[in-house]
Amino acid sequence: MSQLELRPGLADVPVAESAVSFIDGKRARLEYRGIAVETLARESCFEETAWLLLKGDLPTQRELAEFDDQLRHRRRIKYKLKDLIKCLPETGHPMDALQASVAAMGMFYPARDVTNAESNWDSCVRLIAKMPTVVAAFHRLRAGDEAIKPRDDLDHAANFYYMLFEREPSPAVRKVLDACLILHAEHTMNASTFSGRVTGSTLANPYTVISSAIGTLTGPLHGGANEEVLEMLDEIGSIDKVRSWCEDAIANKKKIMGFGHRVYKVKDPRATVLQDLAERVFTDRGKPPQYDMAVEMEKVMIEKLGPKGIYPNVDFYSGIVYQALGIPSDLFTPIFAIARVAGWLAHWLEQMQNNRIYRPEQIYVGKRNAEYVPLAKRA
Ligand code: COA
Repeated sequence: MSQLELRPGLADVPVAESAVSFIDGKRARLEYRGIAVETLARESCFEETAWLLLKGDLPTQRELAEFDDQLRHRRRIKYKLKDLIKCLPETGHPMDALQASVAAMGMFYPARDVTNAESNWDSCVRLIAKMPTVVAAFHRLRAGDEAIKPRDDLDHAANFYYMLFEREPSPAVRKVLDACLILHAEHTMNASTFSGRVTGSTLANPYTVISSAIGTLTGPLHGGANEEVLEMLDEIGSIDKVRSWCEDAIANKKKIMGFGHRVYKVKDPRATVLQDLAERVFTDRGKPPQYDMAVEMEKVMIEKLGPKGIYPNVDFYSGIVYQALGIPSDLFTPIFAIARVAGWLAHWLEQMQNNRIYRPEQIYVGKRNAEYVPLAKRA
């Protein structure tokens, strides 16, 4: 018998000390560098929040202006990268296109010396600035349209919207998109962040670190859930079918997308802010039928699974908000990545400050001293 205790999913096993963000799962509290995420969603902008995550403190006016300027001037992607994106299958998922493009970006900007603070900062700025351009370019090119060049006179959120739709967002839509980016920018030691830290711990270059994290985010148990929430609401069809659908799913032990969280045992604070944002978008653009279904579903689910600590998570309302903004559902997870890159990079910088390669233990349950039977003698 092994002395080691296995914790499936590493539940409650610390893997690093971190000062980037904090969650109190019982009190619905999420803080980035000590500041409540609701405050940041209301008062800050994505650029300022990204600086806060990367540097540890809010920027001064001058620091923010310089950072914003650096981001605006690094948005363009190399024409060879655009050619590479053009060659990807248009039926492929944009997350796979983003992962491939970010990995390829590392070949254009070699950043092998991860002990060089200046080069690390350059990589951080490039990755945050260029990922929206890659996602928008793939989206346009797969439809046979021209990719739209980024505009330096627009902020991060507005420019992304512009590159997707070739028109500027209204101030209300810009604010909602910006707040969504802030809400998704960081979330302690989740699967993709851990994956990025593990890759970083081998001293791999930052583009490889972020492409590892993007790959981990693609799965439906992590970033892919918001896309599946809308598919689920479409499958249910109408509000009167919500209760029986939920009862049936629970009886069949089906995982219901957009609910449950390893850490939150109450409603995810980001879901609360997103629901509020959703209602704001609807005053601008009209309320979709999915929203009333979602509200009914939340009611039924809390009644049935609330006592087990299963409540709506960030993905439950985010898809509904993005759909109301006219964003196609397979871009929901890439938008999550465009935001989360700030948190991934903050963790990578932290890992680099005090690095030791990750090399966990296993509990071996296989055969020992097995006999090698020559091929001719095997039955
Ligand atoms: N629907 C129905 N039951 C759920 C559930 C959900 N969304 N999430 C958890 N549960 C139940 C499990 O069936 C399990 O029940 P049991 O103890 O009777 O076996 C219990 O709650 C614990 O779930 P578990 O899967 O062990 O929790 P976890 O911490 O490993 O997983 C998630 C967390 C997020 C992966 C999980 O809640 C989930 O798959 N949610 C749906 C996907 C999703 O929305 N992901 C986005 C996360 S932000």
